[in-house]
Amino acid sequence: MSQHRTIVVGIAGGIAAYKAVSVVRAFVLQGHSVHVVATDAALRFIGKPTLEAISRNPVHSDLYEGVAEVRHVAIGQSADLIVIAPATANTIAKLATGLADDLLGNAVLASTAPLVIAPAMHTEMWNNPATVANIATLRSRGVTIVGPGSGRLTGSDTGPGRMSEPDEIVEAATAVLATEGRDSGSGTVGDLAGKRVVISAGGTREPLDPVRFLGNRSSGKQGVALATAAGARGASVTLIGANLEVAVPDGLRRTINVGTTLELQEAMDEAAREADLVIMAAAVADYRPTEVRQGKIRKEETGDTLTLELVKNPDILAGLVATRSGNQLIVGFAAETEPDDDRLLEIGRAKLVRKGCDFLVINRVGWQEGFAVDDNRVLVLDRGGDIVAEAAGSKMSVADRILDVVAGT
Ligand code: CTP
Repeated sequence: MSQHRTIVVGIAGGIAAYKAVSVVRAFVLQGHSVHVVATDAALRFIGKPTLEAISRNPVHSDLYEGVAEVRHVAIGQSADLIVIAPATANTIAKLATGLADDLLGNAVLASTAPLVIAPAMHTEMWNNPATVANIATLRSRGVTIVGPGSGRLTGSDTGPGRMSEPDEIVEAATAVLATEGRDSGSGTVGDLAGKRVVISAGGTREPLDPVRFLGNRSSGKQGVALATAAGARGASVTLIGANLEVAVPDGLRRTINVGTTLELQEAMDEAAREADLVIMAAAVADYRPTEVRQGKIRKEETGDTLTLELVKNPDILAGLVATRSGNQLIVGFAAETEPDDDRLLEIGRAKLVRKGCDFLVINRVGWQEGFAVDDNRVLVLDRGGDIVAEAAGSKMSVADRILDVVAGT
């Protein structure tokens, strides 16, 4: 399991409070101890029993409860991380000023833990100079601000102010925890503490001319989730991103962006030299055009049909396996469209032998499955071809399951 930490989730009074349930649940599933502090206003939007059932802990909101145990200070002191989702304009103003007229304000003031907030409000309130100044103040103090996104708000209006999706908040928070774990040298260490991990994510693209490329639909979500999860378990992570279509959390400071397969190969070969664990989650273009045209390919030259000549790209994973040193672990991925389970397994086992890696993560992809979606379903094979893990769910939870297997080796 990943490193267990104490996370305080503050919930302020906004309609997005209902989405906070998913944030709490995700932290619990990651194995953290989660304590919810809800404002009175939040409890008008969402029930205490829901939050208590999901967080598996009592939910506190009253400043004058638990006075004998000095609860208003104890909550903040015990936190490794405070996440406020949603953070309303009012709560943001109070945080910026350092007000402590409720339990959440006291918990934040009494804490030295990093603070992550996910603002949620109407566009006019988000753009109001008071909020703009308050956000700038919080940022300057090192607070991580996630979102807000732009989209449909509570009424019929749309615009910036919509709380970021729970997955995004959890990912940002996990990355902050990861950074803390590394930098603070704190007592609790994860099962990848001190390990150097290199992860490729995304999909390579091969240019045909200055405006076109051959590529694939990989967004990089699963690879970035793996990098985030590895960081949260104490690893020092290098992410090699090929045309990533997802945001890289702030905590993943060492990210190298590449475009083509040859660029990915160069970056991987270099980074893997010092790594304890290498994960090739990127979808690699197997072929590239023999010739890259300097000018745009025009229809007048090509006519009704166009034949492209492609040349095979190197197999980066097989190359990494062939040149690895010591007891470096190497994990490959196999994205397959085969609908039959037995046949899928057969294909996976053959690929495992061909690549020679220590683990192969097989996931099914298709028009609707696998790419650019939040959920994933995978099978993990070990070197002998045995299924050592099966996981389904958010890409963050799948990432953790994969790392459970790999870190246990
Ligand atoms: N891979 C690689 N270099 C390539 C092709 C793939 O390093 N040129 C890696 C991928 O990152 C992945 C694993 O090999 O970890 C399997 O990739 P996949 O595309 O499923 O397999 P291929 O070897 O390309 O085989 P095929 O497409 O024929 O199934």
